[in-house]
Amino acid sequence: MKILIINGPNLNMLGAREKEIYGEQTLADMNAEIAAFAKENGMDTVFFQSNIEGEICGAVHGVKSVYGADGIVINAGAYTHYSHAIGDALGCVKVPKAEVHISNVHAREDFRHVSVLADNCNGVICGFGADSYKLACLAVKSVMERAAK
Ligand code: DQA
Repeated sequence: MKILIINGPNLNMLGAREKEIYGEQTLADMNAEIAAFAKENGMDTVFFQSNIEGEICGAVHGVKSVYGADGIVINAGAYTHYSHAIGDALGCVKVPKAEVHISNVHAREDFRHVSVLADNCNGVICGFGADSYKLACLAVKSVMERAAK
């Protein structure tokens, strides 16, 4: 079981960017922590990050064909709030999908309360830092296991 973890714009700046919101960890460190957690829980992971909308759509389309993955965990950053292109891309692929956020977007500015991706995902987890991704991996795995029964 393999999960594709997609990070969108500005998440490559973790560790340098607004540390009071996003913490001290770099994306590389966070990904290593998520990969180790996933492995302990019976999942392989593959990571993709881009600041470019079309590249994120391409990664979503390639979940099976390029990445050989069975599910998606996506933090599309600010694209979450307005990219119908990424929302439609998620609608194109029939694998379990979770939207995640490091911060609690609902406790922040109004524009962050809206997601145009969520309706094409199985669910949304936000506000738990790196643990949002770990919880999302468990959730995606659970959807896969239920579907296999
Ligand atoms: C974010 C929340 C978004 O509103 C923001 O634009 C980000 C990060 C998060 O992980 O908390 O870039 O997705």
